[in-house]
Amino acid sequence: MAFYHPLLFAIDAERAHRLTIRLISAWSGGTAPLGGVVRDPRLETRVAGISFPNPIGLAAGVDKDGEAIDGFFALGFGSVEIGTLTPLPQPGNPKPRLFRLTEDRAVINRMGFNNGGIEAALPRIDRSGRAGVLAINVGANKDATDRIADYATGVRLAAKVADYVTINISSPNTPGLRDLQRGDALNELLAGADEARGLTPLFLKVAPDLELADIDAIAAAAIAHRIDALIVSNTTISRPALQSRHAGESGGLSGAPLKGLARQRLADFRAATGGTLPLISVGGIDGAEEAYARIRAGASLVQLYTALVYEGPGLARRVARGLATLLERDGFADVAAAVGSG
Ligand code: FNR
Repeated sequence: MAFYHPLLFAIDAERAHRLTIRLISAWSGGTAPLGGVVRDPRLETRVAGISFPNPIGLAAGVDKDGEAIDGFFALGFGSVEIGTLTPLPQPGNPKPRLFRLTEDRAVINRMGFNNGGIEAALPRIDRSGRAGVLAINVGANKDATDRIADYATGVRLAAKVADYVTINISSPNTPGLRDLQRGDALNELLAGADEARGLTPLFLKVAPDLELADIDAIAAAAIAHRIDALIVSNTTISRPALQSRHAGESGGLSGAPLKGLARQRLADFRAATGGTLPLISVGGIDGAEEAYARIRAGASLVQLYTALVYEGPGLARRVARGLATLLERDGFADVAAAVGSG
């Protein structure tokens, strides 16, 4: 991610992202004049037994290695999900692998889980101030002989320190990974993860590119294996109409063009779970109105990534404050009162 700035938009997207993470990491330290986690009694909300100061989360993939955790809390986020982290470090796909689709307010990425490995990230978590909810998103190494075992390893290590752990089986950029969303593989994976998590809440992140039958099966498996919440969704391999010259790049599409599909999948998972599992909506959320609409459509929490690039570092704070105003306007005492009310 690189915030909109002529200088950052003039350089290659991945270098701009690295620079942004370094800047935010330099701001870390709590005393920075960024404001800190947005706190407001109307925004406090409990999901899976965890108390979130506000429902606006930083989506996975922004700070994969946990280098700027305190800086993101300082920008107002109630939760920060680091990762995806894999058991072993890996370089990811060849560059270029990250593209800004400026005209579409979108991004296409095929990063491929580039990360320094989960064990290298753990000390950074120890050092962070944890001003809000800190989550770790885990995945499998591309070359793993047993991917399901990789998830169990990641969950076991992450569960020792994270407030919640997310199992990410929805990245389109590790060939075959999303097959884990189906059939016996899904049940085996969830059973192993459940055994490895101890008492730590476990969330499952799904792709938007699913058939209704898949959605029903995932919902049933998640409930059977005691998953605490579903994150809906990751990037899409589908291609709605796009303007940008990078529209033909392969990888996962995120941002404004994902909005319609993310809304639809939220509704689908709401129907499939009958409201028994908390849902976290991600995909194209770009302001307080959209965050509020997702909450009214059944999301207990929301997360952001791509809109940060186009709307800038003040977005989390603006969304949180705007949401409090919208709740007040419509007579909701707090976030929980508005969930699924729409
Ligand atoms: C992502 N996303 C992602 N998700 C995940 O679970 N693990 C990851 O490592 C990544 N990496 C990643 C890199 C880049 C460059 C992007 C743009 C996205 C997906 C992300 O968390 C989110 O689900 C989608 O981007 C949809 O939300 P937005 O971006 O439309 O707000």
